[in-house]
Amino acid sequence: MNAFDTLKQVIEGRRTTKPAQMNGQKISDEDIKEILALADWAPTHARTEPWRFFVLSGDNLQKFCEHHADLYWANTSPETRTETKRDALLNMGNKASHLVISLMRRTPEAKIITEEEYAAVAAATQNILLGATAKGIASFWSTGGMTHHPAMKLYLELKDEDLLMGLLYLGYSDEQKEGMRKIPLDDKIIWV
Ligand SMILES: Cc1cc2nc3c(=O)[nH]c(=O)nc-3n(C[C@H](O)[C@H](O)[C@H](O)COP(=O)(O)O)c2cc1C
Repeated sequence: MNAFDTLKQVIEGRRTTKPAQMNGQKISDEDIKEILALADWAPTHARTEPWRFFVLSGDNLQKFCEHHADLYWANTSPETRTETKRDALLNMGNKASHLVISLMRRTPEAKIITEEEYAAVAAATQNILLGATAKGIASFWSTGGMTHHPAMKLYLELKDEDLLMGLLYLGYSDEQKEGMRKIPLDDKIIWV
């Protein structure tokens, strides 16, 4: 298979797989390191390399889920919060192996606008998902729960100007998922 066909297979084969569809099998830290090394090759304007990652597994992943559920409960009004949602956050890591928290850290002295720094982190994050796919690892890019709430930033001790890109749950899954796009590709492209 040539490089394009291999890349195409990986890109088209990447599917969002919810942690509930993972099987609890553990990923080696070596595989996680190799995947994160791919993130480091994302394009970066002015070489600010704004991507940063927290990697959690085992008890620390469980603790994060507990704290995430607590943050949700403490920061959501009694009229809108639900126990179903709290339990979903609490149990999010049960069958996942690792959680990679992907975030943007600005380089203050660089004159790169936030949008471009965030775009670079999105590219790095996609590299993680593709690296995982190539290794047969399922992934879920989530911005659910408290991801974008200021309480999460406080909990993670982030700086004011840091931005979370997402919570990436990684694990193995026995399920095969079909891809689906609603808008035809031709409707998204204008050839001039
Ligand atoms: C920035 C971003 C945030 C996302 N957050 C969530 C989320 O919170 N919950 C969720 O179910 N899916 C989330 N997704 C995954 C999308 O639902 C998923 O990509 C989409 O359904 C298409 O499926 P596919 O990834 O298998 O192609 C997110 C995706 C992106 C890019």
